[in-house]
This record gives sequence, structure tokens and C-alpha cells, in this order.
Amino acid sequence: MTDPVRLERRFGVAIVTLDRPERMNALSWATVERLGEVGRELAADRRVRVCVLTGTGEKAFCAGADLKERQSMSRAQVRQMLNAYRSELRWLSESDFVSVAAINGAALGGGLELALTCDLRLMTEQATLGLPETGLGIIPGAGGTQRLARLVGQARALDLVLTQRRVGAAEALAWGLVNRVASGGESALDAALSWLLPVAEGAPIAQRAALLAVRAAQAPIAQGLDRERELYEVCLESADRDEALRAVADKRKPQFQGK
Ligand code: COA
Repeated sequence: MTDPVRLERRFGVAIVTLDRPERMNALSWATVERLGEVGRELAADRRVRVCVLTGTGEKAFCAGADLKERQSMSRAQVRQMLNAYRSELRWLSESDFVSVAAINGAALGGGLELALTCDLRLMTEQATLGLPETGLGIIPGAGGTQRLARLVGQARALDLVLTQRRVGAAEALAWGLVNRVASGGESALDAALSWLLPVAEGAPIAQRAALLAVRAAQAPIAQGLDRERELYEVCLESADRDEALRAVADKRKPQFQGK
């Protein structure tokens, strides 16, 4: 089986690339597990100062949960997956290095949640961001409800979570959902690398101290993540959620019954 995640190191910078272009870099079980392994490997390497997370191709950064795999997963396996999102991806917001999502294309559902788990975000002008979960009879289950509301405020978070609409670069930048937009056709990866060069080359002790101090400005997120999980559980047990997965497979609009 091919590796769903590529890891490359350039001096103090680690480049982590989601590499499943045939599935729009969606998060399969193997991808999430591999991301966890990569995180543990990077955490043990004191030379890493910056981690750039990106995706292969220009269409998608990450299209969220692998919906094809999801169709064959039991509810127990989905619960395991939700646990894995939390345990295997938390390094992106808790390591001693700064993490940045270089959003090269669509970041949808779990893909946007992955970007939200990073410290910083940059996108291309063509990329779009959105949380389509409620259209699939579920809610964002990888911290999206909590991290989005903290980043852009509750009203904007509700706009995205409830309407499922996709936002482009101008709106995302105005909201502070992304820090920067790559300009002049530059790739998201190249723009992120040049943006964070001063961090990679800066004073290691001060850079780390600054990162950890700013992160401490926010209250711990654990309670909110527990609440998100409780509410996901209600959706996971619903017939609407099963109908949505069938509709994806059949390429049709789901018929929700509220059951
Ligand atoms: N999981 C598994 N496969 C996915 C996927 C996902 N989340 N998203 C896309 N794919 C697959 C498609 O099924 C298609 O494969 P196929 O040709 O074998 O059917 C392939 O990737 C290309 O997708 P397509 O939709 O034709 O590409 P596009 O360039 O027109 O659009 C996206 C790209 C990302 C905008 C679009 O694929 C999309 O909206 N995906 C779903 C996102 C989503 O709802 N995620 C779940 C959140 S909970």
C-alpha cells in the first residue's frame, strides 16, 4: 500500500504532505494513523522549528473524512476514528514547533478541521473552505465546532456550520480564518515556506517560548471537545446519517426524516 502521508525535512522545517490525490487527500483510517506517527517522529526531533502541512495537487488540501471508507465502517469504528482524530492530530497544536496549514485546494469537513488544528493557516486564491457535515447528517467531529468558534467568533462559525456554504480566500482572510493568501500564482507550500523563514532561522529558545506563551492565551479546549463528541454521538445513532452516506454512494441528494 502506498504511504498516504509524505514527510520531508529541510533544515528546521518539516513538510508533511497528504498524498491521496485520487480521493482528494481525504482522511482514511490509515492516513490519520500515519499522521500520528509522523507527529511522534517530529516531536522527538529538536531541530524541527516549523511544520508545514499541505496536500498533493491543486484541487484539494483535504476533502475531510474518506466517505468511501466510511460507508463500510461500523459505528464502533467511527467512534474509534473520532478518538483517533483527537489523539493522533493534537500534536499539530501542542508540539514545540509552530504548525501551519498550507491550503492548496479545497479544505472541507475534517480537512478544514485539520487546518484549524494547526497554529497558522495560509491558502491559495482558488482554494475554498467549508464544513459540509450537517448536510451529511452529522456535525464536525474533529474539533471544528470549537476551534472555528474560537478563531472567528460564534456567529461566523454558525454561518459555516449550519449553512454548509464554502468561503473563498477574500472572506476567509477578512474573518481571520486564514492568516494569509498566496499571491501571484505562488503555491501554498512556497508561500508558507517564505512566510515562516524568520521562524525557522530565529532564536530557538525565544521562538519556542513565544509560541507556548501565545498558545496559553486561550483557555483549555478539552471541555468543548468533550461536548462536541457527545453531540456527534446523537447524530451517529440517527437514521439520517445512514441515509446521507447512502446518498453519497448513489450520488443523489439525501432525504432527511429527522430520525
Ligand atoms: N472521500 C472519499 N473520496 C472522495 C472524497 C471524500 N471525502 N471527496 C472526493 N472524493 C473522490 C470522489 O468520489 C471522486 O472519485 P470517483 O471519481 O472515483 O468518484 C474523486 O475524489 C474526485 O472527486 P470530484 O468530486 O469528482 O472532484 P472535484 O474536483 O469535482 O471536487 C471536491 C473536489 C473536494 C470539491 C469534491 O470532491 C467534494 O466536495 N468532496 C466531498 C467533500 C465532503 O463532503 N467531505 C466530507 C466532509 S464530512
